[in-house]
Amino acid sequence: MRAADVDQCKRLLAYLESRGVLAAPLQSADLVALFDECPSFVLTADGTSAFDGRTLLTTPRHLSDLLTAGGDQPAHLADRRAAQAAIDEGHDPLLYRAVRDVFPPRAIADCSVRADLVIYEPGTLPGGEPHRSIGHWNLLPQLEVFQFLTGRMAFVVVGETAGGRRFVYFQVCRPGDTVAVPLGAWHVSYVLDGPAAVFNISANLNGPVTNSNHDDKYRRRAPVGVTLRRRGESVQLVSTPDTQQAWGDPVQPPRADWLTGWLHTGSRWQACT
Ligand SMILES: [Fe+2]
Repeated sequence: MRAADVDQCKRLLAYLESRGVLAAPLQSADLVALFDECPSFVLTADGTSAFDGRTLLTTPRHLSDLLTAGGDQPAHLADRRAAQAAIDEGHDPLLYRAVRDVFPPRAIADCSVRADLVIYEPGTLPGGEPHRSIGHWNLLPQLEVFQFLTGRMAFVVVGETAGGRRFVYFQVCRPGDTVAVPLGAWHVSYVLDGPAAVFNISANLNGPVTNSNHDDKYRRRAPVGVTLRRRGESVQLVSTPDTQQAWGDPVQPPRADWLTGWLHTGSRWQACT
């Protein structure tokens, strides 16, 4: 590692220590380094993340969270009734684990920038959906970027161009891909092979630098009635008739690597520490 990266790792260790998110020593030899620039961040085959040999405390999200997070605007699922029945029978699978604000929130130019590390647990929900996130609308002045670190993911994006053209697309992403969520768009993520680790960076223009506040994130607007179902090794997009009428047929996604060419080697790490 370069001396600058070593210094940044030390600062990050102090930050994570101060937040109390470093727990017991990691008991695994089967490790994958998540960031070339900082091999202290690792993931085990069972989806445990650790820093500097200590397990990271994560916020877990289960199927029951997916069903309830939207309040009176609940998330659309392929088969909500079957999902609820599974929970009632005592099966409430883990969908993902997040380390919120894994780097210190900071101001860059006119933006407040935050970064989460999210580890998706592989599996399939009733109705054939791969394990997934809850889905939410981004704010118009919010740029969100996903960097895919391990596993294979797909995500669905629904939004409107500045010219008013509506679009729906899904995109399959692999390690090394970096994608941006269009401004103001709705999006939801699915894990096709995992554990799948995603580095999730969010920049809010003119926003105050704050820690994550996710209370309102799932209730900004009604969720979109679209989801992905497994189809062999791939997935297919399934919309409700109302959604198809409102947002149209799926369109080709942008390339999953167009943003990568704009990034300097190591920028994902250095921009956030
Ligand atoms: Fe998001």
